[in-house]
Amino acid sequence: MTAVDFSQVAIDKGRTLAGDLPVDWVCADATTWTGSDLDLAVVAYFQVPAALRRTAMWNVVSSLRPGGTLARVAHDSSNLTEGTGGPQDPAVLMTASDILDDLEGIDVEVVRAERVARVVTADDGHGSEVTKTAWDCLVRLVRR
Ligand SMILES: C[S@@+](CC[C@H](N)C(=O)[O-])C[C@H]1O[C@@H](n2cnc3c(N)ncnc32)[C@H](O)[C@@H]1O
Repeated sequence: MTAVDFSQVAIDKGRTLAGDLPVDWVCADATTWTGSDLDLAVVAYFQVPAALRRTAMWNVVSSLRPGGTLARVAHDSSNLTEGTGGPQDPAVLMTASDILDDLEGIDVEVVRAERVARVVTADDGHGSEVTKTAWDCLVRLVRR
């Protein structure tokens, strides 16, 4: 298992949370990193402008073995006006359809591509907790 993030702080946090799990921790820019023969790639809350996102997604899906799976979750564009939390810059938000468009030319079978609700709890400012809905986009696909 390989984990990639360009922040050493994030890598250190992941290492702590992972405990004894056998993970190869890589501090690298995900827009240039490539793997090979991956069974599964999980790309979670990677929010960068569209051109960089396209390069990174192209690289990671090209790194899957035939039959390998991509699981991608991100803050959805609609979260800005309909949801809560997450980045407030629309340039780094996306939809499931944007993610599929990034992969034009790669042969994939789309299993899921949709907007999904994520319930979060937040302080109401008066010492109580309220629940709110954050909107994510979710894509699951298999490389052919
Ligand atoms: C919201 S956090 C998500 C962290 C983790 N993937 C998770 O889901 O808990 C976004 C992460 O993306 C990383 N990141 C942003 N741009 C990156 C890039 N070009 N290459 C690698 N990591 C990047 C940041 O360092 C940060 O740790």
